[in-house]
Amino acid sequence: VKTNPVLIVLFGATGDLAQRKLYPSFFRLFRSGALAERFAVIGTARREWSDEHFRDVVSESIQSFQPTEAEKAAFLSHFYYRAHDVSDVEHYVHLKDLADRLDAQYDLDQNRMYYLAMAPQFFGPIVTHLKGQQIVTDKGFNRVVIEKPFGMDYASAEQLNDQITKVFPEEDIFRIDHYLGKEMIQNILAVRLTNPFLEPSWNREYIENVQITFAEELGVEERGGYYDHSGALKDMVQNHILQVLSLLAMEPLAAVSDANIQTAKIKALNDVRVYSPEEVRENFVRGQYAAGRLGDEGFVGYQEEPNVASDSRTETFVAGKFMVDNPRWNGVPFYVRTGKRLTEKGTRVNIVFKKVPVNPFDAEKGVPANDLTIYIQPTEGFALTMNRKEIGQGFNTQPIKLEYRHDSEMMENTPEAYERLTYDVILGDATNFARWEEVAQSWRIVDAIRETWDRDNEEIPKYAARTMGPKAAFDLLKKENHAWAWRPDEWYRERG
Ligand code: BG6
Repeated sequence: VKTNPVLIVLFGATGDLAQRKLYPSFFRLFRSGALAERFAVIGTARREWSDEHFRDVVSESIQSFQPTEAEKAAFLSHFYYRAHDVSDVEHYVHLKDLADRLDAQYDLDQNRMYYLAMAPQFFGPIVTHLKGQQIVTDKGFNRVVIEKPFGMDYASAEQLNDQITKVFPEEDIFRIDHYLGKEMIQNILAVRLTNPFLEPSWNREYIENVQITFAEELGVEERGGYYDHSGALKDMVQNHILQVLSLLAMEPLAAVSDANIQTAKIKALNDVRVYSPEEVRENFVRGQYAAGRLGDEGFVGYQEEPNVASDSRTETFVAGKFMVDNPRWNGVPFYVRTGKRLTEKGTRVNIVFKKVPVNPFDAEKGVPANDLTIYIQPTEGFALTMNRKEIGQGFNTQPIKLEYRHDSEMMENTPEAYERLTYDVILGDATNFARWEEVAQSWRIVDAIRETWDRDNEEIPKYAARTMGPKAAFDLLKKENHAWAWRPDEWYRERG
């Protein structure tokens, strides 16, 4: 489906996200023909750039797709730049003039998408001025895309939401969680809802525990300034991990629509237990990476990273257990972990099934559990670990892995998360976006953890860079007779 004509107004046009993700996404939509020919982009940011310079930067960001000269010229001719101070009313007056002129020039039906790729303190002023200076049109659609972080806790998120909903109705607010645009995350529902053997066992009767691992190999890189005030809990758990958890835990749907999915996700999140301080101490652990080595390579500790306080107690790793208190999941732990500078990059979900009550071939010996693994990235696909009889005589059983790898099938044409999501916004499809109630409940869950940690103010356990986090993260499962199903080989080698 081709989109409607649209004017994209991008706040934060000189930023890293715009250059790494957004311009390439726009280009791929343009190249595939999904984006209407009638479109224009206004980039704004504080820096004084000319249209020419802006086009050079955009051009550079799409170089890896090897566009032809003609293709590149055609694409870039839609890009315009305005230096803009988000708190200066005058600037919005100029922005409106340009927007109206491009609307007429490209015949855009007054459809507008405002993409706010900026720090959250600017969201409120921007939307207020968009309305006040009548950049928001009467005719056509006006949709606003909000990047994370959506607030820094429940209170600030609510305040932010109040400011935005004064200008835009909920259905025009698209809160981006780029994980929801990933192929394999979208596959979670597809697999659950279309394979009838799975749904009947998708509950406490058959599932022993669920594990969500978001491991990153990289450290904090250039983002110390932001990250040191955020930490892994707010950076990854409040949004990406709880979104994935809600997709795994939600009740099945008879029909998939954005309203149905969002309602089901909200219900699941509302059933996630908001912990008491005691429960936080029992169920959540954190860590911070110290210097480490892997092979010949050495890595500095988090406190030596640029823009990070040298006595920082910010967590770069968190592991914990969530409980979903409803009839489907009562008593089933949802273990989650995420961290920077871990052994390798790997995002995975493991659904660990209950074991057979007795091994019918040898009552003394247990049988390994079945495990359905959803590989999210960089490997994409599924694996099912099940048991078979060992080849030969006797009935010794042995686990085998049935594996399907999607990534070997995926060509250059598989859309990237941002490409899918911007396309969805222009089409007005909110299926893969977070509604306010989801964001609000996720903050309530995470605030309870953060507040306990802040109050306790303890030393933060360290883990060596390029290992799988502190020992406490393993003990957390061990004390319940569980274990992380995914143990990267390197970790095994290093730690035995
Ligand atoms: C972002 C976090 O939301 O997600 C980063 O702020 C993190 O800290 C990133 O590195 C991971 O995203 P991806 O798509 O590379 O797995």
